[in-house]
Amino acid sequence: MNKIVNSADSSTLKGGLHIVVVGASGGIGRALIDQLLQNKIVAKIYGLSRAEYKPECINATTATSPIYQHLVIDYEDEHTIKCAVEQITQKVDQVIVATGFLHNKHIRPEKTFKQVTSDNLLQNMLVNVIGPSLIAKHFLPMLRTDRKTVFAALSARVGSISDNQLGGWYSYRSSKAALNMMIKTFSVELKRVQPQTVIIGLHPGTVDTGLSKPFQRNVAPNKLFAREYSAQCLLNVIDDVTVEDSGYCFAWDGKRIAE
Ligand SMILES: NC(=O)c1ccc[n+]([C@@H]2O[C@H](COP(=O)([O-])OP(=O)(O)OC[C@H]3O[C@@H](n4cnc5c(N)ncnc54)[C@H](OP(=O)(O)O)[C@@H]3O)[C@@H](O)[C@H]2O)c1
Repeated sequence: MNKIVNSADSSTLKGGLHIVVVGASGGIGRALIDQLLQNKIVAKIYGLSRAEYKPECINATTATSPIYQHLVIDYEDEHTIKCAVEQITQKVDQVIVATGFLHNKHIRPEKTFKQVTSDNLLQNMLVNVIGPSLIAKHFLPMLRTDRKTVFAALSARVGSISDNQLGGWYSYRSSKAALNMMIKTFSVELKRVQPQTVIIGLHPGTVDTGLSKPFQRNVAPNKLFAREYSAQCLLNVIDDVTVEDSGYCFAWDGKRIAE
Protein backbone atom coordinates (compact mmCIF):
# COMPACT_ATOMS: atom_id res chain seq x y z
CA MET A 1 0.00 0.00 0.00
CA ASN A 2 1.32 3.46 -0.87
CA LYS A 3 2.43 5.75 1.92
CA ILE A 4 2.10 9.51 2.35
CA VAL A 5 5.01 11.24 0.61
CA ASN A 6 4.91 14.97 1.25
CA SER A 7 3.57 17.76 3.44
CA ALA A 8 0.62 20.04 2.71
CA ASP A 9 2.29 23.21 3.96
CA SER A 10 3.34 24.53 0.52
CA SER A 11 0.11 25.83 -0.99
CA THR A 12 -0.53 28.24 -3.82
CA LEU A 13 -3.76 29.11 -2.01
CA LYS A 14 -2.72 31.94 0.31
CA GLY A 15 -3.15 31.80 4.12
CA GLY A 16 -6.04 31.69 6.56
CA LEU A 17 -8.09 29.16 4.62
CA HIS A 18 -11.62 28.28 5.69
CA ILE A 19 -12.53 24.82 4.42
CA VAL A 20 -15.70 22.71 4.46
CA VAL A 21 -15.36 18.91 4.22
CA VAL A 22 -18.64 17.10 3.61
CA GLY A 23 -18.53 13.41 4.55
CA ALA A 24 -16.43 13.97 7.69
CA SER A 25 -17.28 10.46 8.93
CA GLY A 26 -16.09 8.67 5.78
CA GLY A 27 -12.71 7.02 5.17
CA ILE A 28 -11.39 9.67 2.77
CA GLY A 29 -13.28 12.53 4.47
CA ARG A 30 -11.61 11.76 7.83
CA ALA A 31 -8.18 11.55 6.20
CA LEU A 32 -8.73 14.91 4.46
CA ILE A 33 -9.64 16.56 7.77
CA ASP A 34 -6.65 15.02 9.57
CA GLN A 35 -4.28 16.31 6.85
CA LEU A 36 -5.85 19.78 6.78
CA LEU A 37 -5.52 20.07 10.55
CA GLN A 38 -1.74 19.73 10.14
CA ASN A 39 -1.58 22.51 7.55
CA LYS A 40 -0.61 25.83 9.11
CA ILE A 41 -2.36 27.92 6.45
CA VAL A 42 -5.74 26.42 7.38
CA ALA A 43 -7.63 28.67 9.79
CA LYS A 44 -10.91 26.77 10.15
CA ILE A 45 -12.35 23.41 9.09
CA TYR A 46 -16.03 22.55 9.12
CA GLY A 47 -16.69 18.81 9.04
CA LEU A 48 -20.20 17.90 7.88
CA SER A 49 -21.77 14.45 8.16
CA ARG A 50 -24.62 12.47 9.66
CA ALA A 51 -22.39 10.85 12.29
CA GLU A 52 -20.00 13.10 14.21
CA TYR A 53 -16.27 12.78 13.53
CA LYS A 54 -13.87 14.18 16.10
CA PRO A 55 -10.23 14.21 14.90
CA GLU A 56 -7.87 12.34 17.24
CA CYS A 57 -5.53 15.31 17.51
CA ILE A 58 -8.30 17.35 19.12
CA ASN A 59 -8.37 16.75 22.86
CA ALA A 60 -11.19 14.30 23.53
CA THR A 61 -12.13 16.18 26.67
CA THR A 62 -12.54 19.49 24.80
CA ALA A 63 -16.09 19.90 23.57
CA THR A 64 -15.18 22.52 20.96
CA SER A 65 -12.02 23.36 19.04
CA PRO A 66 -11.26 26.81 17.62
CA ILE A 67 -10.09 25.24 14.34
CA TYR A 68 -12.54 22.33 13.87
CA GLN A 69 -16.32 22.38 14.06
CA HIS A 70 -18.69 19.53 13.27
CA LEU A 71 -22.11 20.20 11.74
CA VAL A 72 -24.80 17.57 11.16
CA ILE A 73 -26.24 17.11 7.67
CA ASP A 74 -28.28 14.36 6.02
CA TYR A 75 -28.86 14.25 2.26
CA GLU A 76 -32.39 12.99 2.88
CA ASP A 77 -33.30 16.36 4.44
CA GLU A 78 -32.22 19.51 2.53
CA HIS A 79 -33.15 21.61 5.56
CA THR A 80 -30.14 20.15 7.45
CA ILE A 81 -27.83 21.54 4.73
CA LYS A 82 -29.45 24.97 4.94
CA CYS A 83 -29.04 24.93 8.74
CA ALA A 84 -25.35 23.98 8.42
CA VAL A 85 -24.73 26.93 6.09
CA GLU A 86 -26.44 29.28 8.56
CA GLN A 87 -23.95 28.25 11.25
CA ILE A 88 -20.98 29.30 9.11
CA THR A 89 -20.47 33.01 9.64
CA GLN A 90 -17.71 33.82 7.15
CA LYS A 91 -17.06 33.09 3.46
CA VAL A 92 -15.04 29.94 2.73
CA ASP A 93 -12.16 29.05 0.38
CA GLN A 94 -12.84 25.41 -0.36
CA VAL A 95 -15.72 22.96 -0.21
CA ILE A 96 -14.70 19.31 -0.56
CA VAL A 97 -17.53 16.79 -0.89
CA ALA A 98 -16.24 13.35 0.16
CA THR A 99 -19.56 11.55 0.57
CA GLY A 100 -20.51 8.60 -1.59
CA PHE A 101 -22.44 5.34 -1.86
CA LEU A 102 -21.66 2.03 -3.57
CA HIS A 103 -23.21 -0.73 -1.45
CA ASN A 104 -24.97 -1.54 1.80
CA LYS A 105 -26.47 -4.64 3.44
CA HIS A 106 -29.17 -4.91 0.77
CA ILE A 107 -27.64 -3.22 -2.29
CA ARG A 108 -24.62 -4.48 -4.26
CA PRO A 109 -23.23 -3.07 -7.51
CA GLU A 110 -24.85 -4.86 -10.47
CA LYS A 111 -22.85 -7.44 -12.46
CA THR A 112 -25.52 -7.59 -15.20
CA PHE A 113 -28.45 -5.48 -16.42
CA LYS A 114 -30.69 -8.21 -14.96
CA GLN A 115 -29.78 -6.97 -11.47
CA VAL A 116 -30.76 -3.31 -12.05
CA THR A 117 -33.35 -2.22 -9.44
CA SER A 118 -35.01 1.08 -8.63
CA ASP A 119 -33.73 0.82 -5.03
CA ASN A 120 -30.11 0.62 -6.20
CA LEU A 121 -30.54 3.45 -8.73
CA LEU A 122 -32.37 5.67 -6.23
CA GLN A 123 -29.83 5.23 -3.41
CA ASN A 124 -26.87 5.88 -5.74
CA MET A 125 -28.59 8.96 -7.18
CA LEU A 126 -29.48 10.27 -3.72
CA VAL A 127 -26.00 10.06 -2.23
CA ASN A 128 -23.81 10.50 -5.33
CA VAL A 129 -25.75 13.16 -7.25
CA ILE A 130 -28.59 14.78 -5.32
CA GLY A 131 -26.64 15.27 -2.07
CA PRO A 132 -23.54 16.86 -3.66
CA SER A 133 -25.79 19.00 -5.89
CA LEU A 134 -27.70 20.33 -2.88
CA ILE A 135 -24.39 21.03 -1.17
CA ALA A 136 -23.38 23.04 -4.25
CA LYS A 137 -26.72 24.87 -4.26
CA HIS A 138 -26.25 26.04 -0.66
CA PHE A 139 -22.46 26.36 -0.49
CA LEU A 140 -21.42 27.92 -3.83
CA PRO A 141 -22.73 31.31 -2.63
CA MET A 142 -20.58 30.83 0.52
CA LEU A 143 -17.33 30.84 -1.47
CA ARG A 144 -15.38 34.08 -1.33
CA THR A 145 -14.97 35.93 -4.63
CA ASP A 146 -11.72 37.89 -4.15
CA ARG A 147 -9.31 34.99 -4.75
CA LYS A 148 -9.18 31.42 -6.09
CA THR A 149 -11.72 29.15 -4.46
CA VAL A 150 -12.43 25.47 -5.12
CA PHE A 151 -15.54 23.29 -5.00
CA ALA A 152 -14.40 19.68 -5.38
CA ALA A 153 -16.65 16.61 -5.31
CA LEU A 154 -15.33 13.07 -5.04
CA SER A 155 -16.43 11.28 -8.21
CA ALA A 156 -14.91 8.10 -9.70
CA ARG A 157 -13.11 7.06 -12.87
CA VAL A 158 -15.97 4.63 -13.59
CA GLY A 159 -18.18 7.70 -14.17
CA SER A 160 -16.31 8.30 -17.44
CA ILE A 161 -18.51 7.23 -20.37
CA SER A 162 -15.64 6.92 -22.88
CA ASP A 163 -13.49 4.94 -20.41
CA ASN A 164 -16.17 2.29 -19.74
CA GLN A 165 -14.61 -0.94 -21.03
CA LEU A 166 -15.68 -3.37 -18.30
CA GLY A 167 -19.42 -2.66 -17.96
CA GLY A 168 -21.37 -3.56 -14.79
CA TRP A 169 -21.91 -1.31 -11.74
CA TYR A 170 -24.81 0.34 -13.62
CA SER A 171 -26.20 2.49 -10.81
CA TYR A 172 -22.86 3.67 -9.39
CA ARG A 173 -21.39 4.44 -12.84
CA SER A 174 -24.50 6.32 -13.93
CA SER A 175 -24.66 8.33 -10.71
CA LYS A 176 -21.01 9.38 -11.04
CA ALA A 177 -21.53 10.27 -14.75
CA ALA A 178 -24.50 12.40 -13.67
CA LEU A 179 -22.38 14.01 -10.93
CA ASN A 180 -19.74 14.85 -13.55
CA MET A 181 -22.42 16.55 -15.66
CA MET A 182 -23.60 18.56 -12.63
CA ILE A 183 -19.97 19.64 -12.03
CA LYS A 184 -19.62 20.72 -15.67
CA THR A 185 -22.91 22.61 -15.58
CA PHE A 186 -22.11 24.39 -12.29
CA SER A 187 -18.78 25.42 -13.80
CA VAL A 188 -20.43 26.97 -16.89
CA GLU A 189 -22.72 29.12 -14.73
CA LEU A 190 -20.05 30.00 -12.17
CA LYS A 191 -17.60 31.14 -14.86
CA ARG A 192 -19.95 34.06 -15.48
CA VAL A 193 -20.76 35.04 -11.89
CA GLN A 194 -17.82 33.76 -9.79
CA PRO A 195 -14.89 33.59 -12.26
CA GLN A 196 -12.29 32.73 -9.58
CA THR A 197 -14.14 29.59 -8.50
CA VAL A 198 -12.85 26.24 -9.78
CA ILE A 199 -15.36 23.36 -9.79
CA ILE A 200 -13.89 19.88 -10.22
CA GLY A 201 -14.57 16.20 -9.78
CA LEU A 202 -11.88 14.03 -8.17
CA HIS A 203 -11.06 10.35 -8.52
CA PRO A 204 -9.17 9.24 -5.37
CA GLY A 205 -7.76 5.96 -6.76
CA THR A 206 -8.78 2.69 -5.14
CA VAL A 207 -8.58 3.53 -1.46
CA ASP A 208 -8.74 1.26 1.57
CA THR A 209 -12.11 2.31 3.03
CA GLY A 210 -15.44 0.67 3.85
CA LEU A 211 -16.71 1.62 0.39
CA SER A 212 -14.07 -0.43 -1.45
CA LYS A 213 -13.66 -3.22 1.17
CA PRO A 214 -15.76 -5.94 -0.58
CA PHE A 215 -13.96 -5.32 -3.90
CA GLN A 216 -10.31 -5.22 -2.81
CA ARG A 217 -9.48 -8.90 -3.47
CA ASN A 218 -8.40 -8.36 -7.09
CA VAL A 219 -6.58 -5.08 -6.47
CA ALA A 220 -2.76 -5.31 -6.53
CA PRO A 221 -1.32 -4.18 -3.15
CA ASN A 222 0.52 -1.22 -4.75
CA LYS A 223 -2.76 -0.09 -6.37
CA LEU A 224 -4.67 0.00 -3.07
CA PHE A 225 -3.98 3.40 -1.57
CA ALA A 226 -3.85 4.25 2.11
CA ARG A 227 -6.46 6.91 2.92
CA GLU A 228 -3.73 9.31 4.05
CA TYR A 229 -1.89 8.97 0.73
CA SER A 230 -5.02 9.49 -1.35
CA ALA A 231 -6.10 12.48 0.77
CA GLN A 232 -2.69 14.11 0.37
CA CYS A 233 -2.77 13.60 -3.41
CA LEU A 234 -6.30 15.05 -3.65
CA LEU A 235 -5.28 18.13 -1.62
CA ASN A 236 -2.32 18.61 -3.98
CA VAL A 237 -4.69 18.50 -6.99
CA ILE A 238 -7.01 21.05 -5.33
CA ASP A 239 -3.99 23.24 -4.68
CA ASP A 240 -2.76 23.02 -8.29
CA VAL A 241 -5.96 23.46 -10.34
CA THR A 242 -6.71 26.76 -12.06
CA VAL A 243 -9.88 28.29 -13.49
CA GLU A 244 -9.04 26.68 -16.86
CA ASP A 245 -9.55 23.29 -15.18
CA SER A 246 -13.06 24.11 -13.99
CA GLY A 247 -15.75 21.63 -15.05
CA TYR A 248 -13.44 18.61 -15.42
CA CYS A 249 -12.66 15.52 -13.38
CA PHE A 250 -9.11 14.80 -12.20
CA ALA A 251 -7.50 11.67 -10.80
CA TRP A 252 -5.38 11.60 -7.60
CA ASP A 253 -2.24 12.08 -9.75
CA GLY A 254 -3.53 15.30 -11.31
CA LYS A 255 -4.29 13.72 -14.71
CA ARG A 256 -7.58 14.74 -16.33
CA ILE A 257 -10.11 11.92 -16.78
CA ALA A 258 -11.81 11.65 -20.17
CA GLU A 259 -15.52 12.49 -20.19
N1 LIG B 1 -12.72 4.16 -1.66
C1 LIG B 1 -12.49 4.03 -2.97
O1 LIG B 1 -11.77 3.13 -3.43
C2 LIG B 1 -13.09 5.01 -3.94
C3 LIG B 1 -12.81 4.86 -5.32
C4 LIG B 1 -13.37 5.77 -6.22
C5 LIG B 1 -14.18 6.80 -5.76
N2 LIG B 1 -14.44 6.91 -4.41
C6 LIG B 1 -15.33 7.98 -3.98
O2 LIG B 1 -14.76 8.69 -2.90
C7 LIG B 1 -15.79 9.20 -2.04
C8 LIG B 1 -15.50 8.83 -0.58
O3 LIG B 1 -15.51 7.43 -0.47
P1 LIG B 1 -14.99 6.65 0.83
O4 LIG B 1 -14.21 5.50 0.31
O5 LIG B 1 -14.38 7.58 1.82
O6 LIG B 1 -16.39 6.07 1.38
P2 LIG B 1 -16.92 5.80 2.87
O7 LIG B 1 -15.80 5.56 3.80
O8 LIG B 1 -17.97 4.76 2.72
O9 LIG B 1 -17.61 7.21 3.26
C9 LIG B 1 -18.82 7.58 2.66
C10 LIG B 1 -19.32 8.89 3.25
O10 LIG B 1 -20.58 9.23 2.63
C11 LIG B 1 -21.51 9.57 3.65
N3 LIG B 1 -22.92 9.30 3.31
C12 LIG B 1 -23.45 8.13 2.87
N4 LIG B 1 -24.78 8.27 2.76
C13 LIG B 1 -25.10 9.54 3.15
C14 LIG B 1 -26.32 10.31 3.27
N5 LIG B 1 -27.51 9.77 2.96
N6 LIG B 1 -26.26 11.59 3.74
C15 LIG B 1 -25.07 12.14 4.05
N7 LIG B 1 -23.88 11.47 3.98
C16 LIG B 1 -23.91 10.19 3.52
C17 LIG B 1 -21.07 8.67 4.82
O11 LIG B 1 -21.66 9.19 6.00
P3 LIG B 1 -22.21 8.21 7.18
O12 LIG B 1 -20.99 7.89 7.97
O13 LIG B 1 -23.18 9.06 7.89
O14 LIG B 1 -22.83 7.01 6.48
C18 LIG B 1 -19.57 8.83 4.75
O15 LIG B 1 -19.16 10.05 5.35
C19 LIG B 1 -17.11 8.63 -2.60
O16 LIG B 1 -17.72 9.59 -3.41
C20 LIG B 1 -16.67 7.45 -3.44
O17 LIG B 1 -17.58 7.17 -4.48
C21 LIG B 1 -13.93 6.04 -3.50
